[in-house]
Amino acid sequence: MSPHETGSVLVVDDEPEMAIALRETLRRDGYRVSLAQNGREAIEKIAREEYGWVISDVRMPSVDGWELLSRLKEKSPLTRVILMTAYGTVPQAVAAMKQGAVNFLTKPFKAEDLRKILEPPAPDQCEEKAGCAQGSGGRSPWENVSRPIRTRNPAMVRILGMIDAVASTPATILIEGESGTGKELLARYLHERSTRAHRPFVAVNCAALPDNLLESELFGYEKGAFSGAIARKIGKFELAHSGTLLLDEVGEMELALQAKLLRVIQEREIDRVGGTRPVPVDIRIIATTNRNLKEEVRAGRFREDLYYRLRVFPVALPPLRERMEDIPLLAERFRLAFEKEHMAVGPFAPETIELLARHPWPGNVRELENVVTRAAFLAEGRTILPSHVSDLLDPEAENIGRGEECDAGIRPGRSVWEVERELILRTLASCGGNKAQSARLLGINVRTLRNKLSEYGIGGGEGNGEESA
Ligand SMILES: Nc1ncnc2c1ncn2[C@@H]1O[C@H](COP(=O)(O)OP(=O)(O)OP(=O)(O)O)[C@@H](O)[C@H]1O
Ligand SMILES: [Mg+2]
Repeated sequence: MSPHETGSVLVVDDEPEMAIALRETLRRDGYRVSLAQNGREAIEKIAREEYGWVISDVRMPSVDGWELLSRLKEKSPLTRVILMTAYGTVPQAVAAMKQGAVNFLTKPFKAEDLRKILEPPAPDQCEEKAGCAQGSGGRSPWENVSRPIRTRNPAMVRILGMIDAVASTPATILIEGESGTGKELLARYLHERSTRAHRPFVAVNCAALPDNLLESELFGYEKGAFSGAIARKIGKFELAHSGTLLLDEVGEMELALQAKLLRVIQEREIDRVGGTRPVPVDIRIIATTNRNLKEEVRAGRFREDLYYRLRVFPVALPPLRERMEDIPLLAERFRLAFEKEHMAVGPFAPETIELLARHPWPGNVRELENVVTRAAFLAEGRTILPSHVSDLLDPEAENIGRGEECDAGIRPGRSVWEVERELILRTLASCGGNKAQSARLLGINVRTLRNKLSEYGIGGGEGNGEESA
């Protein structure tokens, strides 16, 4: 499509004030703008002239926004469509996105929100940006952010496209995926691509804190709410106001707290612990889980109503072993990152890449990142050879995700306690000490795992509830 065509916009709205205001904004930005009062008029105009963009209201007399969208797909497939929806029409917006609408704006919106959709950063600006490596870099929007997402896997590309389309809606997103698959990275990407990009992004790890602490972390408290509450504390919900709140490992939240979260999502207000009146909050919620939440619902450990509230737009990130084509790409990215951060390093020997590409990566992208970093240190500036990585790859990992069992020293004469302890410790070792991932493989929750570890005299290691940036 020529730049000339990209610069032409058809605004379709039956509200004249809205249409004229949009036309003035767009003209000031240098677009050629035409107006249509409804879908029928729009279709007539499209038949006569090609537009780069159609910005259309959804609810209009005669032909509405949905029908216009499907007619456009047929008649003018290169025209990009922005639908203007009212708050509360998220399910339809998601449906439309699947039909191929480019983007949504929730009324009322600001001129900047519209500009962000019309003028995504040009590819050549990307190279100047930190963290945006050369080569295939900079082509797609998901490589054009502060932390680029690297992939050439079709399923991943589809997911990223859907995330782009849903970013500017207020839809709650649930990201499911094994540990280390890039859930947090995707959440940050979504935030950066949304109209809230310049507002706060706050992350809370629901597995890192015991429940009572998690509650005050999320909701905050008033001075004197309990002994020790010597001053008012503002919770993460309030800190994330007007921005995005990431609830990491939401499946670890206990039932009582789940009920409170449900209330926040439904009422869009929170009650500080010891507070007398609710505080309104405007937040986009992204939840992640590395457990199968549906299973948790079935087992009665997760509220079904909350599950459906969170799953307005579900995303399942595939494990790395299901997107093997990404391994060389990611390995190279982490090698370059190492060079930037630490010291010069040689290239990968082809056999090294082959070895990496065969490993099943139970710890997914994070494990790959760790292995590449450690191998780069071992290579001391020279070519990274298979010998630099082979010791870092746990041979027992070959069994993970492949349905085979590894022998945890099971034989008559050993107690259940002993075998359990050994299985837990070996699983933990194979996950590089990552408790969330180990718990998932063991089929127990993180809390149980932590209790068992302290039973064995191994520290529980409580975090501060926040993921490091
Ligand atoms: N496609 C990708 N491109 C580049 N880097 C990636 C990609 N996916 C993941 N990473 C990197 O891998 C690491 C792990 O990703 P992230 O923390 O998002 O995973 P996660 O799914 O949230 O894991 P956990 O469940 O353990 O919290 C991060 O350093 C992230 O930047
Ligand atoms: Mg995470």
